[in-house]
Amino acid sequence: MSLAVVNPMPIPTGQQNAKSMVSIDAVTMSFGSYVAVQDVNLTVADGEFLAIVGPTGCGKSTILNAIAGLLKPASGTVSIDGTPVKGVQNDIGYLFQQDALLPWKTSIENVELGLMFRGVAAPERLERSMSWLAKVGLKGFEHRYPHQLSGGQRKRVQMAQALIAGPKVILMDEPFSALDIHTRHLMQNELLRLWQEERRAVVMITHDLEEAIALGDRVAILAAGPRSRVIESFPVDLERPRDVAEIKLDPRFMDLYRNIWASLRGEVEKSYERRD
Ligand SMILES: Nc1ncnc2c1ncn2[C@@H]1O[C@H](COP(=O)(O)OP(=O)(O)OP(=O)(O)O)[C@@H](O)[C@H]1O
Ligand SMILES: [Mg+2]
Repeated sequence: MSLAVVNPMPIPTGQQNAKSMVSIDAVTMSFGSYVAVQDVNLTVADGEFLAIVGPTGCGKSTILNAIAGLLKPASGTVSIDGTPVKGVQNDIGYLFQQDALLPWKTSIENVELGLMFRGVAAPERLERSMSWLAKVGLKGFEHRYPHQLSGGQRKRVQMAQALIAGPKVILMDEPFSALDIHTRHLMQNELLRLWQEERRAVVMITHDLEEAIALGDRVAILAAGPRSRVIESFPVDLERPRDVAEIKLDPRFMDLYRNIWASLRGEVEKSYERRD
């Protein structure tokens, strides 16, 4: 009798092999007696693009702020590249939902800030900032002030500002939600192009499930709050490079959308019920 040798271990993919860049271990975040998120566990591999979706008020920004070191967990730990986060992190680029440019500084001065805080000398700062503004399609706009730019152009400046220092982790909190749909598609493709050049760990928060699937390697769903937690995590096995407008027409995209929405929908409904 011969015994078939069956390897019980799943074949690891590239993603599972990559080292973990962000680890969120049993993290609980509270504001006074209000427990916003409880016992959250998430890891993001180096070079992985994680999208987080969940109903409004469930604690998405709170989790991002814990990674950035802006908020301290009530319990549990957050680590970046194996080092526990204590205080504001230098190794991250944060793209905020709201306009975060200094209105009294020009595009180039705003982008330079990302390097100034890291002590890069003036001539190098200028050269790198010029080249990043060109990279995000803003050559010729270096000396404009934020109020002289469109919403999409301001986002481009912010993108350059967040990426210029080559952060280990990029955090994005609904960065494109204020843009019209065409500008949003342009910016999403732009982001994918830049990310593809030099893959970093990304944690992106969005309300928009289509955006999460179109951009992410994985989509994690958060439960309605209070005491929100990760309820499910879906791998997105759509090949790259992707065009965000086109990929939405792919039948596999639609299948993923249906599956993930089935899980997210209940949480969105719960969050509306709790508000009444
Ligand atoms: N500084 C604070 N003090 C008290 N409660 C807070 C504070 N910040 C957030 N909260 C509460 O914690 C919960 C989670 O907030 P958070 O901003 O993380 O939600 P969110 O998922 O990002 O929502 P949205 O999708 O609307 O941006 C909410 O109920 C919010 O009211
Ligand atoms: Mg938020």
